[in-house]
Amino acid sequence: MRELCKSKGIPVNEDYTLKSGQPRVSKEKIDPMAGKTMETFKEKQAGSGFAVSEIRKDFPILGDIIYLDNAATSFSPDPVIDAMVGFEHQYRANVGRGVHRFTRIASQRYWHAHEKIAQFIGGSEGTTVFTKNTTEAINMVAQGLAWKSGDRVITTILEHHSNLLPWRNLARQGVGLDVIGIHADYSLDLAALENMITPSTRLVTVTHASNVIGVMTPVTEIAKICHDHGVLLLVDGAQSVPHMPVDVKHLGCDFFAFSGHKMLGPTGTGVLWMEEPVLEPVQFGGGMVEVVSGTGFTTSEGYQKYEAGTPNIGGGIGLGAAVEYLEKIGMERIRHYEEALTNRLIDGLVRINGIHVFTPGPQVPRIGVVSFTLDGFHPHEVAQHLDETADIMVRSGHHCCQPLMERLRLPEGTVRASLALYNTEQEIDMLIAILKELAG
Ligand SMILES: Cc1ncc(COP(=O)(O)O)c(C=O)c1O
Repeated sequence: MRELCKSKGIPVNEDYTLKSGQPRVSKEKIDPMAGKTMETFKEKQAGSGFAVSEIRKDFPILGDIIYLDNAATSFSPDPVIDAMVGFEHQYRANVGRGVHRFTRIASQRYWHAHEKIAQFIGGSEGTTVFTKNTTEAINMVAQGLAWKSGDRVITTILEHHSNLLPWRNLARQGVGLDVIGIHADYSLDLAALENMITPSTRLVTVTHASNVIGVMTPVTEIAKICHDHGVLLLVDGAQSVPHMPVDVKHLGCDFFAFSGHKMLGPTGTGVLWMEEPVLEPVQFGGGMVEVVSGTGFTTSEGYQKYEAGTPNIGGGIGLGAAVEYLEKIGMERIRHYEEALTNRLIDGLVRINGIHVFTPGPQVPRIGVVSFTLDGFHPHEVAQHLDETADIMVRSGHHCCQPLMERLRLPEGTVRASLALYNTEQEIDMLIAILKELAG
């Protein structure tokens, strides 16, 4: 297989495992003027500065637009697109089935992507399952646990609908739902959590970072409370994994869900990590069974048990490439860079008359997701104006968080600017300038 991989430009190690090293570099990636390849750029990235202008060259879609809707979905860099195209052009085949060359290459690459992602979140000892997105991952937990009538789940007012409706849906099985609130500074009411836990509580489910107001939740403290009471903890990491180092072991959760498409990966990719594979699978069929007899079956071990049917193979491999890309830049550096941009954005917004910013102060951990309203304008009007006059793309509305909007008394929702590693100070300044002009 090594020879085959070599002829296809797929890097392999001596022991035939696939290299997690440099992404394939296409000819087009060589800048004839500068005479440098992406490899030399990656080496440069290993230095101390954050070379955002170099990073931006990997994202051809960026062009002249200013994209500040990264909490909804992010863009993919060339190495991710190359990995997906590589699958299609070089070795497309199904995985975990048969013995021919392409299926072995595809299976190994797909398996290796799981390994890379598990390592990326410090979860090598658990089970890392590929899903469509965070929503599917959370639903797998809601449907895969063996509930009994009278069980209760605790969630928070900060949650995206995807971490609310799967639990509301359990009411049909007699499972109750409690919701804890936030303080005036937007931090989570931890005392309420302690008070709310009863012997009937089976699971606490909480977002790691809000997709509306950017506040982070104290997951390690929540995990301690949960474990002291013998309660399971699910963390929705959709808004944290793309922006900071995450270690699920350190967090102490039992389940961790996130979306690949918000962390530079392909759309249609997500992950459910489990410390122990305690869930029953919710889908049954090919690829998830070891033996099928005349009357029964035994399921596979590991992630395969939870990935029935043909998965999104190219997408999973692309997600592996996204993780490699992020790791090369360094999650700590990304966090640091985005923090500075976030502070600049908030400082600029609060100086504009008529703008109200809904974000925690710097004393509360937060990410680069900033919501605001402008007096006299509907959030959709502001978003449309930014797009039409300055090619700035932001999100407006309820952000799939209607209960939080109700709590904040914002019936029309907010405008939300959400950052990624490829955004720049100039883009933030442009946003502020256009808003200042609009505010009059
Ligand atoms: C905090 C949070 N959880 C869950 C989701 C749902 O993600 P997906 O649509 O990828 O399933 C989102 C999407 O914005 C989110 O921000």
